[in-house]
Amino acid sequence: MLLLNKGDLMMGSSMVVGGFFGDEGKGKIVAHLALKDKPSIIARGGVGPNAGHTVEEGKQKHGVRMVPSGFIYEKARLLVGAGVLIDPRVLKYEINEFKVHDRIGIDKRCTLIEEKHILEDKQNKWLSGDIGTTGTGCGPANKDRVMRCARQVKEIEELSAYITDVPLEINDALDDGQNVIIEGTQGFGISLFYGTYPYVTSKDITASQIASDVGIGPTRVDDVIIVFKVFPTRVGEGPFPTEVSSEEAKRMGIAEYGTVTGRPRRIGMWDGHMAKYSAMINGATQIALTGLDKLDTSCYGMTEYDDLSSKIKEFVSKVEQDVGIPITILSTGPNISQTIDLRS
Ligand code: GTP
Ligand code: IMP
Ligand code: MG
Repeated sequence: MLLLNKGDLMMGSSMVVGGFFGDEGKGKIVAHLALKDKPSIIARGGVGPNAGHTVEEGKQKHGVRMVPSGFIYEKARLLVGAGVLIDPRVLKYEINEFKVHDRIGIDKRCTLIEEKHILEDKQNKWLSGDIGTTGTGCGPANKDRVMRCARQVKEIEELSAYITDVPLEINDALDDGQNVIIEGTQGFGISLFYGTYPYVTSKDITASQIASDVGIGPTRVDDVIIVFKVFPTRVGEGPFPTEVSSEEAKRMGIAEYGTVTGRPRRIGMWDGHMAKYSAMINGATQIALTGLDKLDTSCYGMTEYDDLSSKIKEFVSKVEQDVGIPITILSTGPNISQTIDLRS
């Protein structure tokens, strides 16, 4: 007989998703969770190489676009789900750069980004001008997948050494009681369905879609950790209700630049309404809050909750009240070590 009670199943999957417009610091949070929770698998969902995660460990600063940010934990198997678009050049570069040849697997059904997709993304005025895409070919490649004329990874020889069945690997690991981290990319506000359409990316990127990207059903996700940054940012065009001017952002010391494009990020103030709505659609169970050092520089690098200033503690309470779920991880700087983990 099949087990029907969730409590009877040995499962351990945590998913990390973006709660604002992307670039909330998911890369850092995933890397922290990977080192702390020691998962056997870290699997990446999301759109494709339009994402740029930053991982800082010690004096090293890494930017990853295709390889899961949890690569920093050397014992984990690294998987890229079927929903993720693959640019073979970017992927191969990162496999070499991060020396993950022997532990990375790419789902055989992933869609390939080809040169023509990148050209179209850059040359199409609607995409590059009005929407302000990253120019990485993601939209045109997803369009071809919908038109059923895109090529899949299994059709090319150059990635054959890495090809696998990602859903089988993850579901088997979960059946076996192992820990798995599922990594989302982008953020709620640029979801194709729930974001500020048409100023969005080319796919939904909320938790249900990320689960589908890596091939697990919604009932197999134990925790959804939604990442918010104290000062949300947005890259590209589109509405941003709490935006401040770039002069104001510089004056406040909170200016930021994009990992993939190097473009200045638009900066805004905390948006409790968006955070609540986004947590609802993501089914979030926990919050990771990044950029606390930007709210009060005195807390930069702190690792103990009790040491935080009352200004920060009051803000943390406000965020929990706004969203209605607990904050379990606080980030006090870009480095993995600059983290307060309140999980038991
Ligand atoms: P996407 O998948 O592209 O949405 O990116 P992401 O969510 O992984 O975030 P990304 O790394 O692009 O941007 C976050 C930026 O904030 C990076 O430069 C991080 O190094 C930095 N960062 C993360 N946490 C903190 C923090 O607590 N304080 C400060 N000052 N910077 C942080
Ligand atoms: P595209 O995903 O390249 O088509 O870009 C569409 C919109 O999504 C643009 O506004 C991009 O700046 C934004 N975008 C796509 N990926 C990311 C990301 O990882 N972080 C932040 N913004 C993103
Ligand atoms: Mg980013």
